[in-house]
Amino acid sequence: MSIVTQTTTTGENLIIQGQNFSLQGTIKVPGDKSISHRALMLGAIATGETIIEGLLLGEDPRSTAACFQALGAEISQLNTEKVIVKGIGLGNFQEPTDVLNAGNSGTTLRLMLGLLASQPDKFFTVTGDHSLRSRPMSRVIKPLTQMGAKIWGRKGHTLAPLAIQGQQLKGLHYHSPIASAQVKSCILLAGLMADGKTTVTEPALSRDHSERMLTAFGAHLDIDPETHSVTITGNSQLTGQKVVVPGDISSAAFWLVAGAIIPDSNLLIENVGINPTRTGILEALQMMGADISLENERIVTGEPVADLRVKYSQLKGCTIEGDLIPRLIDEIPILAVAATFAQGTTLIKDAEELRVKESDRLAAVASELTKMGAKITEFADGLEITGQTPLTGSMVESYHDHRLTMSLAIAALGSQGETIIQGAEAASISYPNFISTLQLIIDN
Ligand code: S3P
Repeated sequence: MSIVTQTTTTGENLIIQGQNFSLQGTIKVPGDKSISHRALMLGAIATGETIIEGLLLGEDPRSTAACFQALGAEISQLNTEKVIVKGIGLGNFQEPTDVLNAGNSGTTLRLMLGLLASQPDKFFTVTGDHSLRSRPMSRVIKPLTQMGAKIWGRKGHTLAPLAIQGQQLKGLHYHSPIASAQVKSCILLAGLMADGKTTVTEPALSRDHSERMLTAFGAHLDIDPETHSVTITGNSQLTGQKVVVPGDISSAAFWLVAGAIIPDSNLLIENVGINPTRTGILEALQMMGADISLENERIVTGEPVADLRVKYSQLKGCTIEGDLIPRLIDEIPILAVAATFAQGTTLIKDAEELRVKESDRLAAVASELTKMGAKITEFADGLEITGQTPLTGSMVESYHDHRLTMSLAIAALGSQGETIIQGAEAASISYPNFISTLQLIIDN
């Protein structure tokens, strides 16, 4: 078993020689990406000081920090365990002298748009990397426009780069056609400065970190769990808070699957956020027969947290669909890996949103795992995976997608022979220490 990285002219290759070892040890995963973005943003628009412990120092939150610094927030000690944000207060953004760049991060761009659109008399331009410039922005531009926003962009105002002329917005009741926390959060943030009340109703519950954190910062929210509706009252002022960011369950998912598929493994993943809107991965793996237990459950600054223990067990196929999808939306690539090690068929349905993530994740997962010997059929809204197939080390591509990179690395651990993942530097978008943690658990 060995892990080597190699720098090439186009990026980094991660070379993994799989098989014949078990994974042991205790791991800590980096801070939750969704909570990290929100802590930086709410800290920036609050009055007073916000202290963030455990912020994810990946590329995506760094993009958020850079954008809000350009908008006037003071963010200090960014590379430490205790980040300090001096807020500028709602409506006090400065007009940046340059284009705001969200990098690879959909959360940065979509949530920030809600705030920019609601700053009267100010003008902003925003863009992102190659992937983000091809991701649909109409899902937030359309409701923002109904609130009175003025936003221009490529392809009929649907793609970044975008130009925003801030306006005094008016409240709206928006029935979102998709269960998307980015859409919900964008509209709620726009509602913070809008006249009257703003409500978002979604078809199924998406992650609720914005609702929890907005409430903690002093916003007035009404939540109707029956109808999946959230209402925010305009012109509520936010006050800086202390936020302790739990470990990211989406990052823990790689180790949960690694521990479940590699014989004799036993891993403890400490301090993982187990917000029920994010724990679909635990339910799906348990449906597949995984041996996962929760230890030391507690609440940390408004978010539930636990240590997760996973032990090897023979998995079996299952069906993943409906309301479960938004609760494990980012874990489908790694679940597809688990499915290749499971006996029988795993069916993933209602997951067409994966086509507009950092890559077209349905196509990318099907293409790269097929190269390794998996039996996968791709549908418009999902995948059918027939296991258990022995995987063989191969040359595979990251598509510059962090979650695909790490999923392929876990598949490589359980494969015969050598896998080369091209473009593996993408992992640092959400998990800067992924390769060193991988090294740690195989050396134990
Ligand atoms: C996120 C919401 C999800 C998720 C993304 C992070 C968030 O996107 O896939 O990684 O922090 O709000 P959608 O809202 O587009 O489903």
